[in-house]
Amino acid sequence: MCGIIGYVGRRTNAGVLVVEGLKRLEYRGYDSWGVACKTTDGIAIRKDIGKISAVDSLDFLKQSSLAMAHTRWATHGGVTQENAHPHVSCDGKIVVVLNGIIENYEALREELKTKGHTFVSTTDTEVIPHLIEEEMKTESDFAAAVRRACLRFEGRYGIVAMHADSPLLVAARTGSPLIVGVADDGYFIASDTPAFQDSTTTVQYLDDGEMVVTDGGSILFSDLQTGQERLKREIQITVSTVESQKGEYEHYMLKEIMEQKESIARAVNQDVDQIETLARAILEAQGTFLVGCGTAAKACMAAEYFFSVIAGHHVNFAPASEFKLYHRFLKPQSLLIAVSQSGETADTLEAMKIAKGKGAKVLAIVNAAGSTIAREADFTLHINAGPERAVASTKALTGQMAVLLLIAYAMIGKLPKGRTRLLETAAAINDMLNPRYTEFIEGIAEHIQESSDLYIIGKGWNYPMALESAIKIQEVSYVHAEGFAGGELKHGPIALIEKGTPCIALVGNDEVRTDIISNAIELKARGGFIIGISPVRHEVFDEWIKVPDVDTAQAIVNIIPVQVLAYFLAVKRGKDPDMPRNLAKSVTVK
Ligand code: G6P
Repeated sequence: MCGIIGYVGRRTNAGVLVVEGLKRLEYRGYDSWGVACKTTDGIAIRKDIGKISAVDSLDFLKQSSLAMAHTRWATHGGVTQENAHPHVSCDGKIVVVLNGIIENYEALREELKTKGHTFVSTTDTEVIPHLIEEEMKTESDFAAAVRRACLRFEGRYGIVAMHADSPLLVAARTGSPLIVGVADDGYFIASDTPAFQDSTTTVQYLDDGEMVVTDGGSILFSDLQTGQERLKREIQITVSTVESQKGEYEHYMLKEIMEQKESIARAVNQDVDQIETLARAILEAQGTFLVGCGTAAKACMAAEYFFSVIAGHHVNFAPASEFKLYHRFLKPQSLLIAVSQSGETADTLEAMKIAKGKGAKVLAIVNAAGSTIAREADFTLHINAGPERAVASTKALTGQMAVLLLIAYAMIGKLPKGRTRLLETAAAINDMLNPRYTEFIEGIAEHIQESSDLYIIGKGWNYPMALESAIKIQEVSYVHAEGFAGGELKHGPIALIEKGTPCIALVGNDEVRTDIISNAIELKARGGFIIGISPVRHEVFDEWIKVPDVDTAQAIVNIIPVQVLAYFLAVKRGKDPDMPRNLAKSVTVK
């Protein structure tokens, strides 16, 4: 969601550094931006709606050694220049950016108004600089005033603040990620490591309930409540610049779809003992719950089928945002499996908190190493997909499903069989994703690009993939798309089918093939234009996208042609698939 980057140090181009960093956070999705630089004349601020990359000259950035910048994804208050961050105090000296939500902002705002503060935006964030300003009436030390203000905030947030009369960059976190980048000539504080990866790969993580204060020469971490110092390790992160760039591709989304040729094999490369231990933990747990959001939730749903069909074991799935209502079923012997690409999703973190509160153990399956979910779980498996930049998740999904499928095999003592199945699948995907194949799908996108609605059906593990197909198409092409369990069609959705309505049938060569083909025939009888994604041709298909026959891993291959189709639909309809409107890559608010 909101992207934050701040720098303080010996360099005098702090403004340029933070704006360049901000551009590397663009993939997270945002609707407005802002930058603040401390100069000899005070703090200069520039903010606007739209994309920072559309600003052609950075000449407005004056010489500075202390600066911060922000991309906003609107929650409280519309997308306007006034609502863009940074926000300032009445005297204009205290400047703040926020990622997250200050839940009690209305009460604070009223209180501050009665004390004479005036507000120019409709955001929750604006209360922060005003409250710090109020605290500074009795506490002249800037960092101490920030701490006092933070103690009054409710909600999950990460804030970075600076003051026109202070050399300090101050940050605090409860819930939204903030990471310190340790450079030779100063410190960065950012919401994600790509923001400063060109300057340093040495990081220190700020944990929940902590604050950090730096003047660029030294740094002090402390407990937000007690003020007591916290010692931090410096951690080296690995950044592959090749993986972080688009390379030969026009968009990250297509690059990441194509990377599934290798990323699935990387996901499968797990420590055998660890997978077997976790498989035993699932078998022994008194209730296993799978949670995730968006695409990760669809991986969890698919895993319900993997565990049931392969391991004969029942697990419970809930979208992480619904998990709150499941707390009654949790015991200390329960297990929560939290699945996440970014490792920062607020609802998933909240589900972990609920489970931990009941004494249950948490296994995380994540892509982003060092993320909050990865650090807070009792056990963590990394899917090793490499950085995923496009908002629409592709390679992370198939990596998550591969790891979950592997665990299902380990649960019946057949880990080697699962590994082989998945490595064969990876090889088959490598053969499948050739230029002729993607061109063929591009042709189908061309044919249906003017359609206003699209329906996708699946059964068994292809059902969650039908739901995921709809997400992919909606988020990048803005075509109305809906996924259904094939059997549910005749209970309502079939009323929507007209002559020529494109319908995708996700089919496996399995025990439910006949059923889903029957559903496709029902759609065709109402005029549906049937695109069959299946290892085997059937006469009901108007278009057949052939996929390899990979048995229990069929859901993993069946979703890939839909990812390609969604990509080409977006491009043909003139949309930027990497930065869909209204969406964020990392959803750090509930
Ligand atoms: C956002 C992203 C999705 C992602 C979901 C969950 O909505 O746009 O692509 O599936 O969050 O994110 P996570 O990082 O937890 O997998």
